[in-house]
Amino acid sequence: MSQLVVMGNTRLKGEIRASGSKNSVLPILAATVMIEEPVVIKNVPELRDVQTMISILQQIGKTVAFENETVTIMPGEILVGNVPYELVRKMRASFNIIGPLAMICGWAKVGKPGGCNIGQRPVDFHLKGLEAFGFKITEEHGDVMAVIPQNFEKEIIYALPFPSVGATEQLMTTAALMEGSVVTIENAAREPEISDLQNFLNKCGAQVSGASTPTIKVTGVGKLTGAEYSVIPDRVEIGTYLLGAIATKGDIKIHGAIADHLIALLRILEEMGAGIEKSHEYLRAFWKGPLNPVRVSSEPYPGFPTDLQPIITAVLATVEGTSVLEENVFENRFGYVDELNRMGAQIKVSSSHANIRGVKKLSGAEVVAPDIRAGAALVMAGLAADGETIINNATHLFRGYERFQEKLRTLGAKITFYPDEE
Ligand code: EPZ
Repeated sequence: MSQLVVMGNTRLKGEIRASGSKNSVLPILAATVMIEEPVVIKNVPELRDVQTMISILQQIGKTVAFENETVTIMPGEILVGNVPYELVRKMRASFNIIGPLAMICGWAKVGKPGGCNIGQRPVDFHLKGLEAFGFKITEEHGDVMAVIPQNFEKEIIYALPFPSVGATEQLMTTAALMEGSVVTIENAAREPEISDLQNFLNKCGAQVSGASTPTIKVTGVGKLTGAEYSVIPDRVEIGTYLLGAIATKGDIKIHGAIADHLIALLRILEEMGAGIEKSHEYLRAFWKGPLNPVRVSSEPYPGFPTDLQPIITAVLATVEGTSVLEENVFENRFGYVDELNRMGAQIKVSSSHANIRGVKKLSGAEVVAPDIRAGAALVMAGLAADGETIINNATHLFRGYERFQEKLRTLGAKITFYPDEE
């Protein structure tokens, strides 16, 4: 099992630059399935999940090059409309290809993603939405088959049961090519990545409006053209390092950050008594002295991001007093708490709440990372703790944080990665 060994009693100090947003690049790459001209995407982070999505595009017949944080997708013969389960299993976001692929091939067959460590993560909102568009959806042997209708209704309105990021992206992308239809998606997700996807689609000739509000409107067009597009910075990566600065009593400035993408986090950090400095070009977080306990609840954007929930828990674990954390997006996102408690934290979880009684200091231990963001939380806890922490399943981290080791070492961390034995 891969390991990351982290030396404790480290204060992260210095300056780094934000990488491009993983959760923006993935739906944009899925959308390129529908574009039969060259597309160039810039500011793409070199991450395993991006590589997985590129493999899927190549699998269905695209020619893709990826260098210097730039992905170039050339049209090709779309050989097959199906994406095998072993690729979808590696990364749930690949399911976002089923709608676009069906629009091009007339049909698409994609392995149904399984759950993961943060919850069951079904795709029923995606499928109900495509059915509302007129798609015929069937499931067999673990695959989902989607077939487009002869023609689409002129006016389609679909209300999402929950502002699901992936379902919003899947449906707004698919609707972009439903020529002659006007599709309204209600209760849509409002994350910055949705706005990034809208901007990309419109640069390719789509007619999408309403991103960042609960109502997205798409007027289908007959064809999308190629374009060159640079994605937004990764707000979850930025938030992770800002919280790492506070967890380790350090001081980190992150260039290329957009403060407007992290208002909920910045508000909580100020409430905790952390030092914050923001400009149009960077965000800085620094230790100012003992922190206040707080109550945090993760919500769909613009609420506090669920992806930063594990990481703020690692900070609150050593804040005197009792903090309360409520997880309102995923049904099982406290898997990492047992690991933090192995490091001496005093956290009690009951259903969607975690009660965190601050302790003076955590102590290094051997732990297991259940997912990307929980892994990052354990790294920040290990850097602040007494002694050495060994994080197993560390490859999760390289799915979501570009040049993670390099950036942490730039900030003074003493860490060593031991990959899986081949
Ligand atoms: C996206 O996942 C992100 N991934 C996640 O980041 C992020 O945690 C999540 O949005 C919430 O912000 C990418 O963008 C690639 P959802 P997604 O659909 O789209 C339920 C990371 O570490 N649901 O908004 O899968 C679902 O189970 C990852 O970068 C259904 O029930 O999230 C969850 O409880 C982790 N049926 C809730 O909705 C559906 O059809 C929110 O899920 C779809 C979702």
